[in-house]
Amino acid sequence: MDKVVVSLGGSVIVPDDGDDAFLKRLSEMICSLCEDHQVYLVCGGGKVARYYIKVGRGLGLSEQELDGMGIMSTRMNAALVAYSLGERSVGKVPTDIMEAHRLERKGKVVVMGGTVPGHTTDAVSAMLAKEVRAARIVNGTSVDAAYTADPRKDPGAERLSRITHQQLYDLVNVGMHGAGPSNVFDRLGAQIAMDDHIDIFIVNGRNLDEMKAAIEGKPVKGTVVSD
Ligand code: UTP
Repeated sequence: MDKVVVSLGGSVIVPDDGDDAFLKRLSEMICSLCEDHQVYLVCGGGKVARYYIKVGRGLGLSEQELDGMGIMSTRMNAALVAYSLGERSVGKVPTDIMEAHRLERKGKVVVMGGTVPGHTTDAVSAMLAKEVRAARIVNGTSVDAAYTADPRKDPGAERLSRITHQQLYDLVNVGMHGAGPSNVFDRLGAQIAMDDHIDIFIVNGRNLDEMKAAIEGKPVKGTVVSD
């Protein structure tokens, strides 16, 4: 049975757009797959994390303290997703990658958030994929694919259907600017996936047909990153 790590952006979990109905449908879709695929879900913090980090930054908190609040937000989202899976969840939100691996059970889903300060849940997903020797990482995000530039700013931006790890790394290595690239995958995660030759499927996380196809390793409208 292949293992799949899904990086679920906070922008997918709690955009405040029918989130309860979406999470119910997402859980049903994941449950329909988890006898054939060992699924791990790593949840991002989204708006919740950004809000706390913004207010905390205004108060002059340290980067470590801000990251700590970001991590708590990701774990709160993870708890929401785990509860929505009910009996299919392993019943505990692990706080590190080794614990996540230990909690793995056939037919059950491990759901977690962040781990330690200094990175994002995309990086956690790549570290977890490396630890459990996952067949692929699925990045369910707020954009529908990787583009040559930010499609919201550049009408000439081209959608990329298949790219190499090096191309992804170059795309996300342009710095912290531009909403497009930062939503595609994070740099540390891209580096780990490149070093360990782990495929990444980048799809719109709110499109459950796309998410299902990506988890199954089937063709997607989004971007497939491979060697
Ligand atoms: P996210 O993984 O949601 O970060 O973690 P992000 O990429 O900024 O969010 P999206 O994908 O655009 O929605 C939120 C914040 O939590 C802290 C970081 O400060 C991060 O920016 N965090 C998260 C950590 O410090 N360590 C972790 O393992 C995870």
